[in-house]
Amino acid sequence: MRPSDGPGGGRPLVVLFPLPYQGHINPMLRLAAALHARGLAITVVHTETRAPDRQKLPADFDLVTIRDGVAPELAESDDVAPFVLALNRSCAAPFRDYLAGARDVACVVADVDWFAPLGVARELGVKALPLMTSSAAKFRVYMAFPVLEEKGYLPIRESNLDTTVKELPPLLVRDLHHEKDETRYRAYAHLLSNMVSGVRQSSGLILNTLDAIEEVDIANIYKDISIPVFAIGPLHILSPSVDSSLLLQDRSCLQWLDAQPPGSVIYVSLGSLMSIDAHELTEIAWGLVASRRPFLWVIRPGLVRGCEASELPIELQEEIVRDRGRMVSWAPQQEVLKHPAVGAFLTHCGWNSTLESILEGVPMICRPLGGDQLCNARYVCEVWKVGFRVVEVENQLTRGDVQVAIEKMMGQKEGDEIRERMRDLRNAAAKCTSKGGPTDVSLQRLVGFIVSP
Ligand code: UDX
Repeated sequence: MRPSDGPGGGRPLVVLFPLPYQGHINPMLRLAAALHARGLAITVVHTETRAPDRQKLPADFDLVTIRDGVAPELAESDDVAPFVLALNRSCAAPFRDYLAGARDVACVVADVDWFAPLGVARELGVKALPLMTSSAAKFRVYMAFPVLEEKGYLPIRESNLDTTVKELPPLLVRDLHHEKDETRYRAYAHLLSNMVSGVRQSSGLILNTLDAIEEVDIANIYKDISIPVFAIGPLHILSPSVDSSLLLQDRSCLQWLDAQPPGSVIYVSLGSLMSIDAHELTEIAWGLVASRRPFLWVIRPGLVRGCEASELPIELQEEIVRDRGRMVSWAPQQEVLKHPAVGAFLTHCGWNSTLESILEGVPMICRPLGGDQLCNARYVCEVWKVGFRVVEVENQLTRGDVQVAIEKMMGQKEGDEIRERMRDLRNAAAKCTSKGGPTDVSLQRLVGFIVSP
């Protein structure tokens, strides 16, 4: 086969390999579209688990399926590390078979969690560029993990939860990884050690963040790592037209939003991955009803352990409808956040949601459920001060906590200050991502780096 017969038709080919989670697929496919728009050919390698929908992607993206063979129960679990480790074990060999036979490959961009496929690329002499889909601050936590253990911050103990992590301000120990089970903790530590050493040996690192919000953490990564770093976030801004949603988005909520007064609606979504129990679902529902504000609430399949939205008590469902609440199983989130009717976001602080909220200037009521969300929430509340946490006791959320948080956010005293700071942050972020701004310059640098010999 001549080079021009490959999927790129002679153009440099970028092979992108997202980790099969919604929050990781979205930024990777946005990056694919941004590189495509700058003249590069694209192949998306994906697992059978949570495969992207071919019909929704640009026709000239090439798609390659890797048989992962991982048990569905592992894929559905909140416990990410065993799934990711199993994927790395099972996908390295098929990825090698694919890459060894591929033509014109300029580089492989894979999620930082794909340490084995990144290793395969390096062994085959192909440029390997890991993409960190979460924050720069969280990547610094990953890099510091051995030091955090050595200094006794980790594993977390009840007695040190409120200790400041001096090496990573403003984080407290409670913002780090919570894992009481020794085996699960070890699996997580093993994953991080492979991930960080894989990144350090790679050709460069791509960050889904921007100077306007994480300048200090980005600068510290530049200092700590001896490979080129490209901060090109937020990726959802680079190519908003790609629909990478794994679930069907209920667009009817946009018409419902059209009928609501500006800045009045509380948008509630706890992301794609973590779950809550039925008690928390009921408490959020009553808290929303008691706030007497319109709300749009995403209750995705699997959000609630052991029950679905339709199993909420009938009287509560009636209250929700009467009080102008709207429930959907999945929303077009970026369009929702852009809608003028939305006044606040009750969020789990997943990194994509955090970036999407900042870029639309929507202040956040934070209910982090675990993982990097704890670190993101700390930055929302204490660094950018564009939101606050729902105050709950011992992680048990009550309807009163939800109601109080909504009143505080929608009210004038604290609410107005937060809205003003959010406007400033949104403007700084917009400037950063505009033509000639740091994000744009980094992206041009990245494209130059990919096509260079
Ligand atoms: C998890 C982590 O918490 C996150 O920080 C990490 O970067 C990815 O994995 P997740 O639960 O997927 O996050 O949340 P988030 O990162 O916010 O991503 C969710 C994505 O789904 C967002 O892009 C959001 O726009 C989208 N979404 C969410 C929808 O399209 N519709 C919805 O109804 C809800």
